Amino acid sequence: MLRISDISKIFNAGTNDQVRALTNVSLDLEEGSFLVIIGTNGSGKSTLLNAVAGSFSVDSGSLHLSGHNITKWPEHRRAKLIGRVFQNPFSGTAPSMSIAENLALAARRGRSRGLGLALDSSVREELRGRVRTLNMGLEDRLDNPIGSLSGGQRQALTLLMASWLKPDLLLLDEHTAALDPKSADQVLQLTHEIITRDKITTLMVTHSMQQAVNLGNRIVMMNKGRVLHDISGSARENITAEDLLGRFEDLRRREQLGDSIGGLLLGAKGVTELMAIFEAIAGVDQNLDAREIALIAEFSQRWQIIPPDLTEGPVQAPGDILALRECVTNYLRISPPAEQATELLDVLHHFVNADDMVSTEEAIVMDEISAMIMAYVTHSGVLGKHEVVIVPQTSEQSIAIASLLPGIDATSMRGGTVYSVGRFFSAKYAEVVCEKYVALGLFTTRIEV
Ligand SMILES: Nc1ncnc2c1ncn2[C@@H]1O[C@H](COP(=O)(O)OP(=O)(O)O)[C@@H](O)[C@H]1O
Ligand SMILES: [Mg+2]
Repeated sequence: MLRISDISKIFNAGTNDQVRALTNVSLDLEEGSFLVIIGTNGSGKSTLLNAVAGSFSVDSGSLHLSGHNITKWPEHRRAKLIGRVFQNPFSGTAPSMSIAENLALAARRGRSRGLGLALDSSVREELRGRVRTLNMGLEDRLDNPIGSLSGGQRQALTLLMASWLKPDLLLLDEHTAALDPKSADQVLQLTHEIITRDKITTLMVTHSMQQAVNLGNRIVMMNKGRVLHDISGSARENITAEDLLGRFEDLRRREQLGDSIGGLLLGAKGVTELMAIFEAIAGVDQNLDAREIALIAEFSQRWQIIPPDLTEGPVQAPGDILALRECVTNYLRISPPAEQATELLDVLHHFVNADDMVSTEEAIVMDEISAMIMAYVTHSGVLGKHEVVIVPQTSEQSIAIASLLPGIDATSMRGGTVYSVGRFFSAKYAEVVCEKYVALGLFTTRIEV
């Protein structure tokens, strides 16, 4: 009946405004079937209907309707086979012409023979009869201009006109979206009656899940110019509006995930740095439990990042609290949102307290990290007052330090040179840092500044 074969459409190809509106869309509609199309804004629903109606030619693929290859047919030629109703009640009718004239025009549309514009009394009677079926009292207002009608009345009339000659195909593009709920219900009821009575093959776009479930015998969900779901048969019979919403929800979640991958590639702030922190804390903690993994997952979801896979075991050398601090330093360096930094701190606190025992190491590193993050969040500009310095005892040591810590700050002090490892908030943490260098055989000390 209608065969849409592998059609694609790119708008403004080769320019900055290029849009891939349809990509390899194929759909086969049996005669008398009623397909409802759903999808987010911009997913290509209207473009698909416009491609069928011939508002533009497709870039590739083909369209067959009632045995004709209509791919190259101009719009007006297709209009002989296709009836259309748009979202806007003001399109599709001539506002200054009367109801009767509009209907007569519709009855003639695309046909050389027909009712004609001359409205003799028998024609008027036929029009009156058809309009009466709308149950809107319009049969007594046949000579009123269409422009004087409400949106609902107009859409009902447009629908009547579009289906007047029992088109091979009826295209409805959110035709009740601009109406108040009561009028929308009326027009939907009418849609149902006309389509079932005349068994018109129909493609209807709607944003209402309830409409999608109540009407038609097949549902297609579009996304980014493609058919994502095609639901028919028993799956269609058993589907609920909640199921459909669930599919949108899944889609949203997947796209957020996709976006964060994209963001990562574009250097989205903090994603890599946050991952490094989580991996490092997993290393410090060593016993990662379900609760801790859940904490990371929650945080990741809230900030739309992909949580690292920590179930593989610690990535860092066990107990490396220096690595954790360095990860936090790197993270703060990229100026994350204060809200995120605060939340991260919460997560880390929960994390450390999640197991029954807080190790000394954990307590020390948490003190340091808390102070760092708080200084960042409050823009205090305050640096830790515990500075760790290495004082080389020989020139060999100076060379060793320079190669061990390239870029380290060197200061002259009392005729010699001292190297500053950094300034820390926690005295205990500074001690741990000292010990690391002492273990390397370097004279290292903590001074207060
Ligand atoms: N005539 C056009 N020119 C340029 N871009 C268009 C045109 N029609 C639609 N688009 C673009 O194609 C995409 C799909 O639009 P559309 O089919 O109207 O979406 P939907 O009806 O699902 O909300 C959108 O990005 C839209 O901006
Ligand atoms: Mg649309």
